[in-house]
Amino acid sequence: MARVGFGVSELPMRRKYTRRRYCFGATASLSFLVSTLFLAAISPALATVADYTSLTPDKSHSHLIAKDDTSSGFPFFLGSFNGLLIDDEGQETGETRGLDLVSRAPEGASLLENNHFHANDILMGEIQYFHFPKGSMGSNGANTTTDNQNNSASKRATTTVYLSLTICSKPILNESISDTRRDLPQLAVYVSISDSLQEPGPDKNNRGQTVHHSEEGYMNATMSTEGNIYIGVVAPNSGDYSGSYSYQIAASTDALFHAHEQTPMAVFVDSGSEAALFTMGGVLTAEQLQRWERNNTSVFTMFVNNANSTATAGLSRSYCALERYSESTMGDNIETSLSRTKPDDRPKEQFYITGLNGSSTYVGVLAMTGNSSDSGNGIVGGGGKIYRPQNFTTKADGNCAVIYDLDFCSDIAYAVPSNPSMNLSTLRSNYDNYTANLYKNFNYSLQQIQCNTSNETIFSMAVNCDDCATAYKNWLCAVTIPHCDDFSMTSNSTAVMVRNAAQQFPNGTKVTNKTLTENPMTNRPRNSGLIDDIIQPGPYMEILPRVQICHDLVRTCPMTLGFQCPRGKWLPYSYDTSAALSLRFPTASVVAAVSICGLFWLF
Ligand SMILES: *[C@@H]1O[C@H](CO)[C@@H](O)[C@H](O)[C@H]1NC(C)=O
Ligand SMILES: *[C@@H]1O[C@H](CO)[C@@H](O)[C@H](O)[C@H]1NC(C)=O
Ligand SMILES: *[C@@H]1O[C@H](CO)[C@@H](O)[C@H](O)[C@H]1NC(C)=O
Ligand SMILES: *[C@@H]1O[C@H](CO)[C@@H](O)[C@H](O)[C@H]1NC(C)=O
Ligand SMILES: *[C@@H]1O[C@H](CO)[C@@H](O)[C@H](O)[C@H]1NC(C)=O
Ligand SMILES: *[C@@H]1O[C@H](CO)[C@@H](O)[C@H](O)[C@H]1NC(C)=O
Ligand SMILES: *[C@@H]1O[C@H](CO)[C@@H](O)[C@H](O)[C@H]1NC(C)=O
Ligand SMILES: *[C@@H]1O[C@H](CO)[C@@H](O)[C@H](O)[C@H]1NC(C)=O
Ligand SMILES: *[C@@H]1O[C@H](CO)[C@@H](O)[C@H](O)[C@H]1NC(C)=O
Ligand SMILES: *[C@@H]1O[C@H](CO)[C@@H](O)[C@H](O)[C@H]1NC(C)=O
Ligand SMILES: *[C@@H]1O[C@H](CO)[C@@H](O)[C@H](O)[C@H]1NC(C)=O
Ligand SMILES: *[C@@H]1O[C@H](CO)[C@@H](O)[C@H](O)[C@H]1NC(C)=O
Repeated sequence: MARVGFGVSELPMRRKYTRRRYCFGATASLSFLVSTLFLAAISPALATVADYTSLTPDKSHSHLIAKDDTSSGFPFFLGSFNGLLIDDEGQETGETRGLDLVSRAPEGASLLENNHFHANDILMGEIQYFHFPKGSMGSNGANTTTDNQNNSASKRATTTVYLSLTICSKPILNESISDTRRDLPQLAVYVSISDSLQEPGPDKNNRGQTVHHSEEGYMNATMSTEGNIYIGVVAPNSGDYSGSYSYQIAASTDALFHAHEQTPMAVFVDSGSEAALFTMGGVLTAEQLQRWERNNTSVFTMFVNNANSTATAGLSRSYCALERYSESTMGDNIETSLSRTKPDDRPKEQFYITGLNGSSTYVGVLAMTGNSSDSGNGIVGGGGKIYRPQNFTTKADGNCAVIYDLDFCSDIAYAVPSNPSMNLSTLRSNYDNYTANLYKNFNYSLQQIQCNTSNETIFSMAVNCDDCATAYKNWLCAVTIPHCDDFSMTSNSTAVMVRNAAQQFPNGTKVTNKTLTENPMTNRPRNSGLIDDIIQPGPYMEILPRVQICHDLVRTCPMTLGFQCPRGKWLPYSYDTSAALSLRFPTASVVAAVSICGLFWLF
């Protein structure tokens, strides 16, 4: 069979063909590093350590009243001022006047406005009161006019109120305490929906109130009421801590202002020794995508902290605390971009975290800024949403770096063999250009084949040359850009292979095991040329590509090209066969049709 003329010598599998004669049985007994997905250890360190005695009410708030200038003259809340207290002097406690828009605020209580957060500091042992009057229900500051019209209609209706609190900063740990990971005592929120209990707190009978404790710096509560809501926020007394907490509290009739979800929204993709890549689980909605594409506005944000860090310990569900105290935040050490990678090609937001230390464990938290389209006061859900944190570990050897968003190999997003002295953009373009050039050669040869002629001469009715080109590209990207892990990784999967064992580590030490340094399967990279000549990493572990990627190529490309997957004992040196259900080896006639010199073993 005539070989079509293309740069055979530039094809990586051509070189590997000669190498297979030297192969002998080095078995690597390793398995995938399982990225640890975890459920954050939630320790409701609450009332047990808290001492709610010696509570003093905060009476620092001024009393003001405002009226609107409509004909009805309803009093209204100045939407942009937090903590503005509206008080109708002269009325009896519990009595209301007019259309019940405003009721008397308890002495010393701060007013909560619908969908507006109130930020306060609270000393250890202190109690602070809030008041969410019936009049503000259904009256989102952003749409007061319309809501006012319906207020009388809904006056007697039961309203669902969503109350949320986040702790933004914590008191200082007593210096005499050496255990810096000690559980943080959390805040307690007492809620009364009865006008006869306007100062709920630990000293009151619990029948008239409910108590909610924050966990990991976050508390939510939902209640149904026809009337006013009275809230007491209590900071516990603790000999271990001194100073004050700062927190945000918000009430809403629409939805929680601050939200928290246990879903693991962040998907860990891979890490190098200094960087890591995450994507979001799920996909962006059409509207979110539009904002991304038009305005380059991200929907999610991410916070990353060393697992040892104490700055956000006990506050992992608090948006404001993570925003203030995280080691890595967006724009600082975290870049976000839009990704459309396999398998679904659907748009996702991805996060690239840099400036990490090698072989360290980190905690990544994905969060939504506001309600994803807007944030801040006056916005329903404007306080953001925190998802379940996720631990990840960086690699140790300095040999692997995460690359993604390549122009040609656009689906590649994982750690690849690298060298600490090579910067990321050089690494990216080295791999991508090299692969794109190999593909160009292949494309020339594909054009020689009667691809776009009549149906009678096309090589297969079921597949066409585009399918072949795609399969070739997938295969080429997977084998020329190996998926890298630490040489020292331990696992019992056979789908990893030691590579480049003859080279030295970035710190100058070498592998001493002769089995590995002399076997041509393990002492060099998978393909000569790019990696050993230009990238020059130390010894690394290759996580092998799935064998299906080779079988797809053989199946979809014209037999004239003579592609073949390695067989028998050679297969596990190059491919992960563990997921292969039915191996589609080429038929006998295909094997017979290829001449020895034209045979391409797809190592
Ligand atoms: C994640 O890291 C935290 C903080 O170090 C630790 O307490 C937790 O056990 C880790 N979770 C997993 C699943 O490793
Ligand atoms: C106020 O409500 C009306 C009617 O529901 C709506 O058309 C309008 O967009 C809202 N305005 C704002 C600022 O939300
Ligand atoms: C007022 O409430 C009624 C009944 O709940 C509803 O049908 C109507 O659309 C509301 N009007 C406005 C302006 O929101
Ligand atoms: C720190 O703890 C010690 C021992 O429990 C206590 O005597 C001391 O008063 C505490 N200091 C502060 C500032 O709370
Ligand atoms: C309310 O808080 C609980 C516990 O943190 C959480 O599981 C739940 O998802 C929260 N609800 C919302 C809507 O954020
Ligand atoms: C883009 O930003 C502009 C101004 O910041 C805003 O007016 C517009 O609505 C935004 N577009 C989208 C699709 O979010
Ligand atoms: C984190 O803690 C581990 C185990 O306690 C320790 O080996 C490591 O050095 C610590 N890392 C940092 C950066 O403090
Ligand atoms: C050099 O790096 C390798 C791989 O990270 C490590 O196993 C080895 O202990 C290091 N040697 C020295 C002397 O630091
Ligand atoms: C890769 O190709 C791009 C565009 O062709 C070029 O700008 C860049 O210098 C090349 N990089 C390398 C490392 O060859
Ligand atoms: C030839 O292939 C084209 C495109 O695949 C198809 O539309 C056409 O029906 C085929 N013609 C015959 C005769 O099979
Ligand atoms: C790997 O080995 C461990 C312990 O020897 C075993 O528990 C685990 O199931 C093994 N994993 C696989 C994928 O074989
Ligand atoms: C060398 O590596 C091979 C393959 O990983 C292993 O089977 C063998 O035990 C190692 N030899 C020594 C001396 O560690």
